Amino acid sequence: MDKPGKHQILRSAASLGLVAIIGTTLLTGVDHITADRIAAQERRVILEQLGQIIPPQRYDNELQDDRISLRDERYFPNGQAVTAYRARQQGQPVAVILKFAAVNGYNGNIQLLAGIEADGRLAGVRVVSHKETPGLGDAIESEKSDWVLGFDGRTLNDPAPTGWAVRRDGGEFDQFTGATITPRAVVEAVHSALEYYEQNRELLFSPAEESAGNAAP
Ligand SMILES: Cc1cc2nc3c(=O)[nH]c(=O)nc-3n(C[C@H](O)[C@H](O)[C@H](O)COP(=O)(O)O)c2cc1C
Repeated sequence: MDKPGKHQILRSAASLGLVAIIGTTLLTGVDHITADRIAAQERRVILEQLGQIIPPQRYDNELQDDRISLRDERYFPNGQAVTAYRARQQGQPVAVILKFAAVNGYNGNIQLLAGIEADGRLAGVRVVSHKETPGLGDAIESEKSDWVLGFDGRTLNDPAPTGWAVRRDGGEFDQFTGATITPRAVVEAVHSALEYYEQNRELLFSPAEESAGNAAP
């Protein structure tokens, strides 16, 4: 067989390079589309769940647009950006819905929404996304069990601070059979969000233009 010439080798190398570039570009494109789809799907879920926590007839502002982003490591660890959606009726505070993560789940972060009434009562908690094990940790989803409804109407003092834990740890919230880590993470994170609310109520309800300076990007 003839030895390939220098030009032929260069042509083959160029073709291979081209294939690699096209492949990488296609993969990057697919990645972008997938990320966009996930973001759009998450937005749909959030809108639907915001409505479950605070029904639209209770406020007259654009809830999903009247929001600020904040960070506070003491209450929301791992440098997470928290979103606060503010519900108002004729400019008066009705409730705030915080989107944040419980960071001590069995399989990483559990994205939560917690609605807190202006008086500090929990309007409701919902799980936006998680990677907990099906059949074990996923009972935190409202579609799978009523467990998450156990937060409805709770406050920082109901139960008393020691009660803000799963029963296994001496608290008032049920764990699941064979799965304590997931509910423990959610209870701790929701309690922390209530503590944040108590300390930052003014900031949370401040008008968008005022709060922007205090909020993280
Ligand atoms: C494959 C596998 C998946 C698990 N997934 C979860 C989970 O999603 N959530 C959880 O709390 N525990 C999960 N566990 C159990 C935890 O390791 C741990 O044993 C449990 O949370 C402790 O609760 P218990 O004291 O009631 O057993 C899983 C265990 C295994 C082996």
